[in-house]
This record gives sequence, structure tokens and C-alpha cells, in this order.
Amino acid sequence: MKQILLGAFEINQVNLTSQGLWAHPDQNTFRYKQLDYWMDLARLLERGFFDFLFLADSYGYPVLRGETPAVTFEQAVEIPNNDPMLLIPALAAVTSDLHFAVTASTTFEEPYSNARRFATLDHLTEGRIGWNVVTTSSAVVAELFGRGPLPHDERYLRAQDFLDLSYKLFEGSWEDGSVLVDKAARRYADPGMVHPITHDGPYFTSHGYFDSEPSPQRTPLILQAGASSTGRAFAAANAEMVFLQGKDSAMLARQVDDLREAASSAGRGREAIKAISGLSVVTGSSRAQAEDRLEEYLSWVDADAARAYYAMMTGVDLAALDPDASFSTVTTEGGRTQVDRYKDTTVRDAAADFIRRGMRELILVGTPLEVADQIGGIVEETDLDGFNYTPFVSPGSYTDLVDLVVPELQRAGLMRTERKPDTFRERLFGDGMAHLPSEHPGSRFRPAAMSEVDG
Ligand SMILES: Cc1cc2nc3c(=O)[nH]c(=O)nc-3n(C[C@H](O)[C@H](O)[C@H](O)COP(=O)(O)O)c2cc1C
Repeated sequence: MKQILLGAFEINQVNLTSQGLWAHPDQNTFRYKQLDYWMDLARLLERGFFDFLFLADSYGYPVLRGETPAVTFEQAVEIPNNDPMLLIPALAAVTSDLHFAVTASTTFEEPYSNARRFATLDHLTEGRIGWNVVTTSSAVVAELFGRGPLPHDERYLRAQDFLDLSYKLFEGSWEDGSVLVDKAARRYADPGMVHPITHDGPYFTSHGYFDSEPSPQRTPLILQAGASSTGRAFAAANAEMVFLQGKDSAMLARQVDDLREAASSAGRGREAIKAISGLSVVTGSSRAQAEDRLEEYLSWVDADAARAYYAMMTGVDLAALDPDASFSTVTTEGGRTQVDRYKDTTVRDAAADFIRRGMRELILVGTPLEVADQIGGIVEETDLDGFNYTPFVSPGSYTDLVDLVVPELQRAGLMRTERKPDTFRERLFGDGMAHLPSEHPGSRFRPAAMSEVDG
């Protein structure tokens, strides 16, 4: 039985995909501005053998028909929202085994400064950092940054150029062994081994040396979540871990197989990308009690807030569509993952489902043993590599999992029982795999290969 990777899906704001759940009596996300809230969470995740904390992020807020509805502020729909990256050094300081994935947008960040921030984090965490690469669909963000909106597929062209430049900076500027720190000889680095990079891409230009010296992983672990066809092709070329969205084992099994096939066609091998699915769990002393708890959580969702949240991600106003129309007629230049997800249903059913679940797909309910059995079954049926655990309330949903379900998963051989400090990439691909493998396109920007690229 293969061991699963377990991540925690988090965001630096009060609502995590279930808009309105912030007000639940057991919910502590209102403490998101306090460092000790996050430090306690990181310690809890490490205690529970979580492999990583995934920090989602986006700029902006909902706009419906040109206006931000009042419910946005009443229910805190994606606003207020703090920068998650700034939490990481503090969380790394209170953990040793937990990895961190943080989101940065290729549509709104600048490659050079972004690369330096990730290199810094890779140093400070000793190789425990991953970058969730997103293309940011929201037109509001373009307004906030004073830029015109980019069409969907062009965002991915820009993302590829962003990554190509990032790879050059991470991999191509400082050779292995270039940093000497030789006090006796008074030489910090060997000038002959540090090289200016040259990038004249369709979107970005950069000439010169990378500011940061090589970090444990050099390129941070690359994660990706866009499931549109362009997003999937981008992932096949670049990603090392991908978040899939499927509502049942059959759908997830198809997606896992497609992903492995795409990675193989891209010359990287079927096992080059770890496939992860979202997962929510509600336990109880009986299945019926767990189901009651789930319904109680969902009763806190505010339907108008959920519609505003949907519009923010996709640009689609669910209330403005004919409820009887097929969702397959809906098109968008916004994010497509949450639109494609409903192409086989009517607008009415899609709206009802999204209001209920937000981005959640797999929601497992039952006794801890029943849930662990279900997880084992899903892994077997789908070949998934792991899950991004999406809580309802924090920290309660985590303590339920850590204290009740994780021990069952460990007994079943589905989760590791030992700790080992390693880099994020090694956690996925094994000891000695801290750097991008030679099949990954980023590796062709290493100094030895660079002369061919530039020449
Ligand atoms: C698990 C998961 C996490 C995501 N996290 C973020 C995020 O933090 N920020 C963001 O802008 N988009 C996030 N997304 C959205 C996608 O990364 C992607 O940018 C979006 O769906 C648009 O791409 P698409 O048109 O290919 O779907 C997430 C999606 C999933 C499934």
C-alpha cells in the first residue's frame, strides 16, 4: 500500500472556501492576524505527520455587475486577506519536518523579485519551500494593479515565460561550488563560477546575475492547480505536484491517468508529478452523527456570499443565468476550472452544488475507522498520491483528523510513522532528489546546458 502525502489547505483570511463559516462558534480563523494562531497550527500539523502546509492566495475581491456587493464585507468574502508568504519564516522556526507551499501569481508578480523571495525562503526553511504557480483570473486584480486584463490562454503563455526566466535565475547564475566562504583566503565566492543570465522572452527581459546564492533546492518545488486544458498542459511541462478536482474516484482516476500520460508525453515520465486531491473529513461516534455535524457546518454558508466568491474566481454571475440552461453553454475568460467542473449539469444544480461545497470535492463522513477505510479505497481506485486537507473549522477539523484519523491511517500503512528532516522535493521523490531532475525543463538552464540555450 503506498503512503499518502498529506497537506493542509489554508488561506490567510477568515473564510476557507465555505463563505460564512467564519462565524461558527468553533471557528478560530478570526485570529488569522495573530502569529501564535499560525504557529500553533504549524505545530499541530507537524505533530499529526502532515507533510506540508499549503497557503492559497489571491489579490482582489468579488465584483458582480460592476459593483462589490455588501455581502463581500459582511461575510469577508476573500477580503480582508493578508500576505501568506510573510508567515513562513516564523512557522519554519517552530517546525522541522513540515514543508510549506505558497502561492504567487505569474500574472501580477515580477519574476526577478519573486525568484529572490523564494530563494530566500528556501534558505531560511532549509529547502522546505514550494511555489504554487497561479495565473490569477480575476479582472479586479488587473484593475488594482493598473493593467489590462489578459485573455485566459495568454495568461499561461506569460506564465511559461515567467517560469523560464525563473529557472534561469535559480539554476543558471551560480554554479555548484561557486560559494566558497573561505575566510582565510578572503574569498566569499569564485567570480569565474557566477554567470550573468540572459532572457529576452515574449513577456519578460532580464540580463545579469541573480542576487541570491544557491539554496538547498535551487528551484522551489513547483505546484499547480489550474485544471483548464491550457492549465493542464502547463502543469504537464512544469509542475511537480498538481491539485486535481474530481468529485468521485472514477473522475479522479481518469484525471490521475491523464496527468501521468501528459507528463510522460512531455518527456518527464509518468511518476514525475504527484497527484493530490482536496479532501474534507467530518468524523463522529457514528456515521449518522458525523452526517449531522457536516450539515451543521454547511448550514453556516451564506448563499449570496458563495455566489460572490464564484464570480470572483470565474467572472460568472450565477444569479444572472437561466437556471434551466445547461452549464456547458457558459464560457469565460476568467478561471475555467470551476466552470468546466459543472459542464454536465444545469445552472440550477451547479449553483446549488457550489453554494453547498465551494471548492470542496471529496467530503468523507463517518467514524474515524470508516473514514480511514474510505481514504484507503480511494487511493487504491485512483492511484492518487495524496490529499490537501480542507478543514471546516480551525483548529477543530485538524484535531479531529490528527487525533482520530491519522492513527488509523498509520495502522493501515497509508501514512508514515517516522520523521526525517528533508527538502520538500526529497519528501516527494526520495533522498538525494533535492534538485530538479534532468528530465525537468528547468534543468536545461543550468550553466553547462545554458551555452547551448543561449547559443
Ligand atoms: C486546490 C486549489 C488551490 C488553488 N489555489 C489558488 C490560489 O491560491 N490562488 C489562485 O489565484 N488560484 C488558486 N487556484 C486556482 C488555480 O490555480 C487557477 O489559477 C485557476 O483555476 C485559473 O486557471 P484555470 O483557468 O486553468 O482554471 C487553486 C485551485 C485549486 C484546485
